Amino acid sequence: MRHHRIAAIPGDGIGTEVIAAGLEVLAAVASAQGDFDLDITHFPWGSDYYLEHGRMMADDGLDQLRGFDAIYFGAVGSREVPDHVSLWGLRLAICQGFDQYANVRPTRILPGIESPLKLARPEAIDWVIIRENSEGEYSGQGGRSHRGHESEVATEVSIFTRTGVTRIMRFAFTLARSRPRRHLTLITKSNAQRHGMVLWDEIFQEVAAGFPDVSTDRELVDAATTRMVLKPGSLDVMVATNLHADILSDLAAALAGSLGIAPTANLNPEHRFPSMFEPIHGSAFDIIGRGIANPVATFWTGALLLEHLGEPRAAARLMGAIETVTAARLFTPDLGGTATTAEVTRAVVAALRRPVHA
Ligand code: NAI
Ligand code: MG
Repeated sequence: MRHHRIAAIPGDGIGTEVIAAGLEVLAAVASAQGDFDLDITHFPWGSDYYLEHGRMMADDGLDQLRGFDAIYFGAVGSREVPDHVSLWGLRLAICQGFDQYANVRPTRILPGIESPLKLARPEAIDWVIIRENSEGEYSGQGGRSHRGHESEVATEVSIFTRTGVTRIMRFAFTLARSRPRRHLTLITKSNAQRHGMVLWDEIFQEVAAGFPDVSTDRELVDAATTRMVLKPGSLDVMVATNLHADILSDLAAALAGSLGIAPTANLNPEHRFPSMFEPIHGSAFDIIGRGIANPVATFWTGALLLEHLGEPRAAARLMGAIETVTAARLFTPDLGGTATTAEVTRAVVAALRRPVHA
């Protein structure tokens, strides 16, 4: 029996609803497989914790998390705490603290789900967006001075380091090489941003030389949005900066049907620190507590987590169960249905209990 230790951080808003559902489904897949178990430890960190303790997570939070095999994260964000405090105090503190520099965001149109793109065949969207997750526009460099005066100034500095760019390009090429199409698109903005983005492009070309079996092309980020809509089948893997990938991946999620189905993995590829798995959506103020949050993103995220733990059969079984349920068009309202979070969860658990035919 293999054992895996998981830290669960549901966080705020619908994060608590979808992580509860996700843990039910992970327990079901572990019991169906029978050859591993998951030891779950819950951490109550988030905006309520902040209102009580004045910080988003315990002072020694990273030390408490360090020994886990993976982190299963919901969302942060609440009306009572400024977004930059909640996001930096918890999610970004973990991503940066554990050097989770590769953020992997797969997009597919799952069976039964219709893309809002009239012309897109389901197979036209099968993308992975690789987001540089440790520097770029979200490096946290900058400051404010002369607060409140007319002369007030604020800077938000984008940082691009040779080390940071090289490692994400290597990661992206390696991932692209593992997929059937072996194609990688560089997303850039080096026409307007002539320092950091030019270094970004140059290092892409340097790394490309070591991957002659991966075909490449290049797209400015604004043009990439139109290509995603008008020629979705021309894209496979994309590598983009922290900000660009953040925006493109919400677009990708919408084109695949809903933000409620999109998963992500924040990886420390060298396994020096635990990696963190989360749906890409936030705490969804407008549907908190209504029991209708789509749990599919969190389930798919669970499959990424299982793969990372070295449980590929369990991951495939979970994806199969998710697809069985979407194919039956059991949808929460974001996908046009009337099902609740609990109903979708029960259906996925039931699909997991059915024997798998090899
Ligand atoms: P959001 O992702 O929370 O919501 C955007 C829209 O998508 C809303 O209409 C929401 O109802 C819908 N939606 C999102 N997830 C859904 C799901 N699973 N099922 C059904 N509908 C879903 O983004 P928003 O409104 O920009 O941000 C709300 C809060 O979340 C803010 O405080 C923000 O900072 C935070 N946030 C946190 C993230 C994280 O923890 N990784 C990521 C994005 C936002
Ligand atoms: Mg985002």
